[in-house]
Amino acid sequence: MAGFKTLDDLAEVRGKRVLARVDLNVPMADGKVTDATRIERVSPTILELSRRGAKVILLAHFGRPKEGPETKYSLEPIAAATAGVLGKPVAFAGDCIGDKATAAVAAMQDGDILLLENTRFHKGEEKNDPEFTRALAANGDIFVNDAFSAAHRAHASTEGLAHLLPAFAGRTMQAELEALERGLGNPARPVVAIVGGAKVSSKIDLLMNLVKKVDALVIGGGMANTFLAARGTDVGKSLCEHDLAQTARQIMIEAAQAGCAIILPSDAVVAREFKADAANEVVGVDAVPADAMILDVGPRTVETVNQWIDRAATLVWNGPLGAFEISPFDRATVAAARHAAARSKDGKLVSVAGGGDTVAALNHAGVADDFTYVSTAGGAFLEWMEGKALPGVEVLKK
Ligand code: 3PG
Repeated sequence: MAGFKTLDDLAEVRGKRVLARVDLNVPMADGKVTDATRIERVSPTILELSRRGAKVILLAHFGRPKEGPETKYSLEPIAAATAGVLGKPVAFAGDCIGDKATAAVAAMQDGDILLLENTRFHKGEEKNDPEFTRALAANGDIFVNDAFSAAHRAHASTEGLAHLLPAFAGRTMQAELEALERGLGNPARPVVAIVGGAKVSSKIDLLMNLVKKVDALVIGGGMANTFLAARGTDVGKSLCEHDLAQTARQIMIEAAQAGCAIILPSDAVVAREFKADAANEVVGVDAVPADAMILDVGPRTVETVNQWIDRAATLVWNGPLGAFEISPFDRATVAAARHAAARSKDGKLVSVAGGGDTVAALNHAGVADDFTYVSTAGGAFLEWMEGKALPGVEVLKK
């Protein structure tokens, strides 16, 4: 892949100690992994390295421990879950540096897989401390980073190690970077972005960046209310950041200057209560009752969104169009997601989605597999959409 070394550039790994940074920050309940998607995503890299005879030493974080080792943040249960997904044994060492790690690595045979304890149990990890990074590097000959979703962190295991050891992108990192390049880096035009979710405040940088890069920006979810209100529309009791009206207007001005069409909802599904199956009605956005709130975009808006999807060669999607977690306010998100998925399946659209609730929304619509690429990254995907350089990616560049 242009600009990065990948596993294809790794000539001989048999017998080599490969430190592979993976993202095993998976949802857990009662000590069990409840969604193994991230483990599945890194499996190809782990299995390929193992098959090629490397000693595969996995580095990962879990949660945000602040005071050193804490049982609830241990990766030990995740070693068993990873073994289940890989169909191969995964050994575990109770520390990622020092005697425990060294002894476990020394006991490895070619092709073995070992998971080291949570890197964040050491303060040096998040500080990208040189001494800690050297201690990690002492157990490896080669560094492979397969954790795009942690690449927005300049930590020892995501950034520092790449300065000390020959560094390569793993298969998932490679797939992610290739997909993102197709999404916004060097996309087929026209490019349409759909951005939803609750708040403008968390996505100002993202919106500012997108209006300069895409041909049309569809704004949905709670954040659309802020734009509607900034335009003078009364949104009743809807979630709305009135203090961001000026920011919203500025985004619309920048979009106009850049030739980016902004598509706001023209109709909405409103209700008086935020709960599943609440009594609801469809109204034009200019007729939202004073005591009601917008919980989804309406059918006319969905038609417009689908028409933009039809025009697009590339679609970038972040955030749901409505309160998709509660029925029936999932309708617009599901309908537009299915439409984009069908276009992608037909080879007419490159669709890249990611960040926060987006994966859950696409899974809910049953179409995550039909998108061209769905990123499991949250914060890293958002920072990429904001146009920011990701330290863990930058350091891999040749
Ligand atoms: C994530 O879950 O998005 C990544 O694993 C990064 O985790 P962090 O936000 O705790 O750095």
